[in-house]
Amino acid sequence: MKIDLLGMVESGGCSAKIPPRQLEEILKHIPLPVDPDILVDIDTHDDAGVYRVNDELALVLTTDFFPPVCSDPYEFGQIAAANSISDVYAMGGTPVIALNIMMFPSGKLPMEAYADILVGGYDKASEAGTRIIGGHTIEDFPPKYGLAVVGYVHPGKIITNAGARPGDLLILTKPLGTGLILAGQRMGMASEADIEESKYFMKLLNKTGAEVMRKFGIKGATDVTGFGLAGHALKMARAGNVSLSLNMGRVPLIGEAYRLVDEGCIPGVSFTNLDFVEDESGFSEDLDYNLKMIAMDAQTSGGLLMSVPGEKAGVVISELHKAGLTRAAVIGKVTEKREKYIYLEN
Ligand code: CO
Ligand code: CO
Ligand code: CO
Repeated sequence: MKIDLLGMVESGGCSAKIPPRQLEEILKHIPLPVDPDILVDIDTHDDAGVYRVNDELALVLTTDFFPPVCSDPYEFGQIAAANSISDVYAMGGTPVIALNIMMFPSGKLPMEAYADILVGGYDKASEAGTRIIGGHTIEDFPPKYGLAVVGYVHPGKIITNAGARPGDLLILTKPLGTGLILAGQRMGMASEADIEESKYFMKLLNKTGAEVMRKFGIKGATDVTGFGLAGHALKMARAGNVSLSLNMGRVPLIGEAYRLVDEGCIPGVSFTNLDFVEDESGFSEDLDYNLKMIAMDAQTSGGLLMSVPGEKAGVVISELHKAGLTRAAVIGKVTEKREKYIYLEN
């Protein structure tokens, strides 16, 4: 039996997140715990929580899970694991141990599919040097998979989404377009080559990017996932009380993502993301509509968005390229807080 996980879901990957506006509303009801050893909590909407154990060690804790973004169970496992682990990298941490989180309809799929997802996750975690030491499964449809991950970071070397400073340049390490390609795939409009390229980037660990950030003492970063480049840029701008200007024309794209906007392959979640950022964004008058919608595209297992001191940007880019992240590019800059938090131009 040929298994097609993608055929079972309405919205897969990080596009299945709760709309950011609603999420922020819900989170307001939870009191923030007070403890001097909590170094990063939900207050700044960062990628992961960070808890100090002692002066040398803090734990980075995160979990992510979602419905399938591709048809093959093994590849889905790889992508979900790469995505879960990414939040540890975005905080400057080293992922160490993890637990599986799995929801699976045992009556609707053969058990091999279930096993293949877990093996995909195991292999990707191993590539990251992360040991999966347990997990939890329940019956559910459609299937969902991800990890809860614990990483190590030195308490003085945490990279947060609040670390962007005026004068920094913004570097993005992976091209955008996984949401558009996925929508195109469902509508039979994305090429095989673009689907493969998209899966390549979703499976690619943000490990290399994180190593480069550590080497150059980068202070501000996040990873680009379900809220799109604009949504995550907004969270970064708010957390750091700065403004971010994005040159959308410089953003690297996967395959024919640009053309897919023309053909109407815009997933609904892009409009949810636009709604989230709109009031706090300035769009240049001549901003290309396709580029605007690409900024809203929900990424699954997207790249790192790093805020790099201007004088280091050139060497950081060449280091990223040398390390194999050949599509990494400078896509904008950080300024003092202006009227809006983010500005999009061509
Ligand atoms: Co994240
Ligand atoms: Co996350
Ligand atoms: Co972060």
